[in-house]
Amino acid sequence: MRELDLRVAALDPLGVVHEIQRLPLLNRAADIAGLTRLARAWTGRVDGNRYDAATAGAALRDIGFVLASLERHGVDYRVVEGAEEILLKLGALADEVPRDSVYTYALRNPEHATRSFTELPEEALFIREVRTAGFALRPAVDALTEALPLAVDDRALPDLLAAATEGFAVFARSLLSVKRQVTPETFSYEMRPYFPPMTVGGQVLYAPGGAQMTPLLVDILLLRPEPGEAREEWYEQYLRENVGYLPAAYRVAGDRARRHRPLLPRLVEEAGREAVPTARTTRTVTALRGLMREVLKFRIPHLQLARANMNVRPDGSLGSGGYTTDSLDHLAELTLSRHQLLSTLPAGRTTEA
Ligand code: HEM
Repeated sequence: MRELDLRVAALDPLGVVHEIQRLPLLNRAADIAGLTRLARAWTGRVDGNRYDAATAGAALRDIGFVLASLERHGVDYRVVEGAEEILLKLGALADEVPRDSVYTYALRNPEHATRSFTELPEEALFIREVRTAGFALRPAVDALTEALPLAVDDRALPDLLAAATEGFAVFARSLLSVKRQVTPETFSYEMRPYFPPMTVGGQVLYAPGGAQMTPLLVDILLLRPEPGEAREEWYEQYLRENVGYLPAAYRVAGDRARRHRPLLPRLVEEAGREAVPTARTTRTVTALRGLMREVLKFRIPHLQLARANMNVRPDGSLGSGGYTTDSLDHLAELTLSRHQLLSTLPAGRTTEA
């Protein structure tokens, strides 16, 4: 996945690299005629017959930037002739949603020649941090996938959980950096408008957003509700609504993960069955605690940040993924209740070996 992202980031199939600085200027001036001309020029250069998945992904990224800009200024992107068909074709070639996503916006947005909607340093920082966070979580997903079939006293487990913890620690740090440096007013008024829903092929597709990021997979792997548990129905719907925005390899990883029980409740159950905890089991439980601490270190401040943003917006505003902060409340509750499961283990099981 990392290779695909880096390949897409390096590609410029529409030859826009010398024009990308025009986009923030046109956006600042709300120059709809200029944006429409740019959108026509870029879509006119698409040569879908010669594209592979990576090239199509790079074209989706750049066209996504200009079409979302038009929508932000109140113009239906379909005024650009052929744009909808082009999005559908590029999405099919890339095997991804036919519009921009958090992957095109951040992970596949090159560090040099970064595409952006505005000239704000806050947007540049946001793109950098989301990119860093997204990359850091990839090894975490791999490590948790490897951990799925292992028993609680398997000697490999603590290291795999530690690798996942490291990834989440970076994720949590990136979030804190955005929280400190991007005010709710700047994000809500200057940036969020560039993440509008768009109708493509008769389907409303949401804009780049956190729900498309890999914590979705970490939740599936680690702590999703099991059948009959609280919030199971809500969670299944949340998954159905968001899994489609993941790149193909992650959709496959998510399907595979669902064939196993989520790690945390299974490992806690196995640990609870030991009359006398082994040193290995204790190490696993300690590592699980460390991982859950980092997940919470992201989720709780993120919830506060989202609430602070909603407080400066009109009532009933939605995040770019189409949700209120209720969805974040549910995820935080789920994470906290899984964390509490660890404390149900008899005393002594959770101390360092
Ligand atoms: C000012 C900045 C931010 C605001 C206002 C915000 C707001 C939201 C909202 C409202 C949601 C719910 C889904 C939706 O409707 O989009 C969400 C989900 C999410 N956001 Fe953010 N977010 C911000 C920054 C970030 C950053 C910097 C990251 C990553 C480093 C991030 C990661 C996530 C994740 C992973 C989710 C899915 C829910 C979860 O796993 O807890 N967000 N965000």
